[in-house]
Amino acid sequence: MKYLSLTIMAAVFAVATVTSAYGGEVVSLRGANELAKDAKMFEKTRIMSQQGGFKRSWKLQPPSIPHTIAKERINLEENTCMRCHSAEKFKEEKAVKIGDSHFIAADGSKSDKVNGRRYFCVQCHAPQNNIEPLVENIFNSGGN
Ligand code: HEC
Ligand code: HEC
Repeated sequence: MKYLSLTIMAAVFAVATVTSAYGGEVVSLRGANELAKDAKMFEKTRIMSQQGGFKRSWKLQPPSIPHTIAKERINLEENTCMRCHSAEKFKEEKAVKIGDSHFIAADGSKSDKVNGRRYFCVQCHAPQNNIEPLVENIFNSGGN
């Protein structure tokens, strides 16, 4: 008898859980969206272009990219960022030379070529969109 009532209670609980999960709206960071309706179209935003670049939040922050990079390609054959940011080209293109640290290998030795560790620029550098953050940002650089 005891086992029977436990089984019934478990069944009622399971039905209640399923009903509440599928009956209502799903609320996510992007807002509420009823399951039976089409998903809301996301807002299209443009990559920001900023003359003079973005201010860094701390001294050694990889600076944000102040231009679009949609057409750039970084792969085994080519790195089109270097068309403008290499030591040879940056003056002509009025761009910024890649950081001195980008020429230093893991063992501390320097070379004229960008080091492999810095080849995939967008690992560290990111373009920016002018949008409201989804969550509050409480990052504090501690004055560095
Ligand atoms: C056609 C030339 C060109 C190409 C290609 C290019 N950039 Fe730039 N980039 C510039 C110029 C010019 C600036 C300076 C903009 C300014 O300060 O007004 C700049 C600025 C930057 C900065 C900011 C530097 C700072 O100190 O604030 C970063 C980071 C950067 N680019 C990264 C990249 C990356 C990564 C790629 C490839 C995905 C790339 N760029 C491709 C021309 C280029
Ligand atoms: C592993 C992370 C990392 C990668 C990969 C990387 N960078 Fe950087 N970059 C940084 C950091 C950190 C700084 C700021 C400190 C410095 O100058 O070294 C920086 C600085 C820069 C600057 C500004 C230099 C100055 O004197 O103001 C430019 C331009 C730049 N990077 C371009 C590039 C390009 C182009 C690539 C790809 C070929 C690249 N970076 C790859 C981390 C990275």
